Amino acid sequence: MRLDRFISSQRTDLSRSDVKAMIKKGLVSVDGTLVKKADMQIDENNTIVSVNGEEIAYRRFLYLMLNKPAGVVCSTKEGESLTVLDIIPGKYRRQGLFPAGRLDKDTEGFVLLTDDGQLAHRILSPRSHVPKTYFVRLEKPWEESYAESFESGMEIDGGEKCLPAVFTGGESRYECRVVLREGKFHQVKRMFEALGNKVVYLKRVKIGDLPLDENLPLGECLEIMHKDVERLQTQ
Ligand code: URA
Repeated sequence: MRLDRFISSQRTDLSRSDVKAMIKKGLVSVDGTLVKKADMQIDENNTIVSVNGEEIAYRRFLYLMLNKPAGVVCSTKEGESLTVLDIIPGKYRRQGLFPAGRLDKDTEGFVLLTDDGQLAHRILSPRSHVPKTYFVRLEKPWEESYAESFESGMEIDGGEKCLPAVFTGGESRYECRVVLREGKFHQVKRMFEALGNKVVYLKRVKIGDLPLDENLPLGECLEIMHKDVERLQTQ
């Protein structure tokens, strides 16, 4: 692949002409040697390319764990609100990146951003039933009966039937965890509404078997490495 094309495919914050200018200025190295030719051919699988001293790790697909803050929308479209794609660092902005699954604007936590459409489909498809775990804070104390209600497959407003889900009460009577195997619109909020309660804070803390990194600050993201990508699909 051409060097300039390779760099702009991995770094969509840099246009092709930015890349060409950077190469001319001697800011790009290939296997440790400064290069000046934008049309140089490289083997993207076996070459270390650095831009401004920062190595570009070539990966066919990118998988990011974002700790989404409230106030940010899971969309790729520009609108009035800040989107998850607006808040990731430039080095991760590449073509085709999108949020695999949505959280409400006021919900925090784990959003997977990827350009791997097949994996996203496997996680999101209603038939795959990959579990998503949520930490919930409620307006009123939870009741012992909630576990059975979630387990039995609740009906939420409008007569929609939910798949069996797992409810676990927390030490505080206002806090709990819920594991869902599907993703209906506002589902966690609507399930608690059906029980006469109200969600006042919601955070997704796990997708499949992969927990949100506890040390990842709100608004920041990290790259999910190969062995952990498998865990996203664990039932
Ligand atoms: N359920 C909700 O109600 N909101 C979310 O963002 C995710 C699950």
